[in-house]
Formats: sequence, structure tokens, C-alpha cells
Amino acid sequence: MTQRPPETSSSAGVSRRRFLQGSGTALAAGVTTSEASSSAGPAAAPRLSGEVEVTFQLNGEARTALVEPRTTLLSLLRHHLSPPLTGTKEVCDRGNCGACTVQIDGAPAYSCLTLAVDLAGRSVRTIEGVGSPESLHPVQRAFCEQDAAMCGFCTPGFVVATVAALEQEPQASLERVKERLSGNLCRCGTYPHIFAAVQEVTGQRTDEVFREEGR
Ligand code: FES
Ligand code: FES
Repeated sequence: MTQRPPETSSSAGVSRRRFLQGSGTALAAGVTTSEASSSAGPAAAPRLSGEVEVTFQLNGEARTALVEPRTTLLSLLRHHLSPPLTGTKEVCDRGNCGACTVQIDGAPAYSCLTLAVDLAGRSVRTIEGVGSPESLHPVQRAFCEQDAAMCGFCTPGFVVATVAALEQEPQASLERVKERLSGNLCRCGTYPHIFAAVQEVTGQRTDEVFREEGR
């Protein structure tokens, strides 16, 4: 049923297990650095910051950032860039809700479970790279027309996941769309409107969506 965790694992190269292993490696690396600097004496140049340089594509532009090995892509986007990219939302921060969904090399991925150091040479697309206020992406326009947001916190993640799904399957069936979006949660319950927006983009009848949902 839930597709995002496996997709996240294969596309972004990160799974929960690997994330934890990465954190453990970072911790171990910190200990090793500390021990090495103390044994090498004051002449050595210890690496105290532990930051790593990573170069990747962000919304079509080459970006280089200094990040600690523990820094997630979500944290990088929201707290370490200047200016920050806050369109990607932090809700659960543990891979449960999909609010932080971005595209990595075209596939949807949870940015809260993606380590920034794993982005080297990869391409990241956030909601800021999907249309603009002056020129909305068709999916964004359909979400507006179908009133597919209440609080709106889940919306950027849903839009990015929908764009990724329809880029890969432009004429996906409703069942297929639901499967592709099953890694995203909306606590306000706007699912019928979200699916109607998707159906609007794919050119299918939106009233079928509401009939199926009993509305
Ligand atoms: S904030 Fe990443 S899955 Fe919820
Ligand atoms: S619109 Fe509020 S969580 Fe989806």
C-alpha cells in the first residue's frame, strides 16, 4: 500500500536503517577525530567542525553547501540556505506524513529522512521549483480550482508527489494515483478534493471521485 518508504529508499539511497547507520557513523567519526587530534599533539590541524562540502542541483541550479553528516535535506532547505526554502514543510520529521516530500532525480523522497551529504551529484526539486505564483504548474492550478487545501501544511508535499507521479504516469488511473500518494497524509481530510485535482489534470471526470468518496 504505502509506496513512499520503498521509493525513498531506492531513489534517494536512504532508508531508516541507513539513516541511523549514517548518524552512528557521524558519531563514530566525531570520536575518531577527537582522539586523533589529542594524540597527534598541538601541531596537528584538527577538524573540529565536522562539516562536509556537498554540491548538488537544487531546482535547476548548482549549489554547494557545508553540512554536518547528521544534517537532513529538510533541515538544509529550511535552516541552512540563504535565503531559506521553507515551502517544504516539517511536520512529523520521522517519515510518517509526507509533508516534506521533494523530488530527488525525479522520484519522490522524504527530505526528513534524506541526509544532505548523500546528495552529491544529485538533482533536488522542491515546491519552489514547481511553477511560480505568476505561472502555476497545472497541478498547482488544479489544487486551487478544486479547493484541495485547508490548513495547507500537507499541500506542498502532495503537489510535489502528484507532479512526480504524473510525470512518470501522465494517465494514471484513480487507484494508481491513490497508491502513488499513499505516502502523504492530510490531517484535514481533503483527499476527495486532492483526487479531484489530480483527475482534473489527467482529464478524467472529477464527479466520479466524489461519488466514490460518498460526498
Ligand atoms: S516531515 Fe518528513 S515525512 Fe513527515
Ligand atoms: S490541508 Fe491540512 S493537513 Fe492537509
